[in-house]
Amino acid sequence: MQEPRIVVAGLGTIGQGFLALLDQQRPQLEALGVAPRVVGVLDSGGAAWAPQGLDLKAVRAVKALGASVRTLTGAGREWTGSQLMDEARADYLIEATHTDLRTGEPGLSLVREALQCGMHVVLANKGPLVTAFAELKRLGEFGSGSDRPRIRISGATCGALPTSSVGLRDFRGGTILSLEAVLNSTTQIILSRMREGLTYADALAEAKRVGVAETDPSLDVEGWDTANKLVILANAVLGQPTTLRDVPTEGITRINPALLEAAESQGGRVLLLARAEKVGSQYILSVRPTIVDGRHPLSRLGTDEMGILYRTDIFGRTLITNAEQGALGASAAMLKDLIGLVFED
Ligand SMILES: NC(=O)c1ccc[n+]([C@@H]2O[C@H](COP(=O)([O-])OP(=O)(O)OC[C@H]3O[C@@H](n4cnc5c(N)ncnc54)[C@H](OP(=O)(O)O)[C@@H]3O)[C@@H](O)[C@H]2O)c1
Repeated sequence: MQEPRIVVAGLGTIGQGFLALLDQQRPQLEALGVAPRVVGVLDSGGAAWAPQGLDLKAVRAVKALGASVRTLTGAGREWTGSQLMDEARADYLIEATHTDLRTGEPGLSLVREALQCGMHVVLANKGPLVTAFAELKRLGEFGSGSDRPRIRISGATCGALPTSSVGLRDFRGGTILSLEAVLNSTTQIILSRMREGLTYADALAEAKRVGVAETDPSLDVEGWDTANKLVILANAVLGQPTTLRDVPTEGITRINPALLEAAESQGGRVLLLARAEKVGSQYILSVRPTIVDGRHPLSRLGTDEMGILYRTDIFGRTLITNAEQGALGASAAMLKDLIGLVFED
């Protein structure tokens, strides 16, 4: 039985979901020969540490009360992330702190330190990837085949929808010619409701009412969430150094009803499409509302689905779709990445 020693940074929806899955999926993990041991956890108020492994139910109970893990009996510490990492001497960092797309912090410093200590890192947080990809690539390995610490990013690139893992693993020996993807579920739901006749304002109001859209939905509806994910995929999967400035981005806020009608008349759809197309030695990138006709594989995406279509030279066309699993999907994606790292794939 392998017993990977883990530190989990960030104990909000995703971090707590990950801890819950470690308990819930224990039989499946043991069947695989993995018994993860969480030796440290970190939130904004401090840390908890137990070299023999923390009681995960006790950690979740403290968070359910809205308290910091610093208050956990016997294990709580007034430590920074850096102090925890020094003491815990873990093999893996699970990084699920909040996203800051300007500085990448606090995740960036944690990821940097973990990689410098030789730890492998699993991220749900896009911040460090969008703000400092080149630095992280110097410190760690996004693919496989080197003995440097490895970095896995499924949780940051659409959670349960396999985007980066397929792109990095399943086309080896070939070339990705293009990538087209719907990477944001909120906009997919709003566009679906508009197709049914709602105005943009009404569709957005409904999405907010049912909790699909944030109170401030600008990151989603202005296309930046999709663009951030495309930046990460371009860097990690396509191998093209990319920042947000390289991605012309248009969201769905100014969609003209005529565009929706034009799509309908072709038996197609309007999607908020992330595209990367190989032209010469470069990929041309964009995020914009796009008409896809009825023969396009992504035109069949359901209301609550995201999807990615890779076209390659020797593997043909690969379509992957996933019905939204929300926060559970991102936590599950982190678990999948951890298992993959334990088995070195
Ligand atoms: N929610 C989703 O559906 C989803 C899906 C995919 C990816 N993601 C990404 O996953 C990450 C986590 O998302 P979430 O929804 O779980 O966020 P969240 O609920 O806001 O949780 C963020 C966590 O980070 C902790 N934190 C804040 N500052 C910190 C610091 N300086 N040091 C250590 N920890 C700190 C917070 O501590 P406290 O508990 O003390 O406040 C909290 O536990 C984000 O980057 C998000 O973009 C989320």
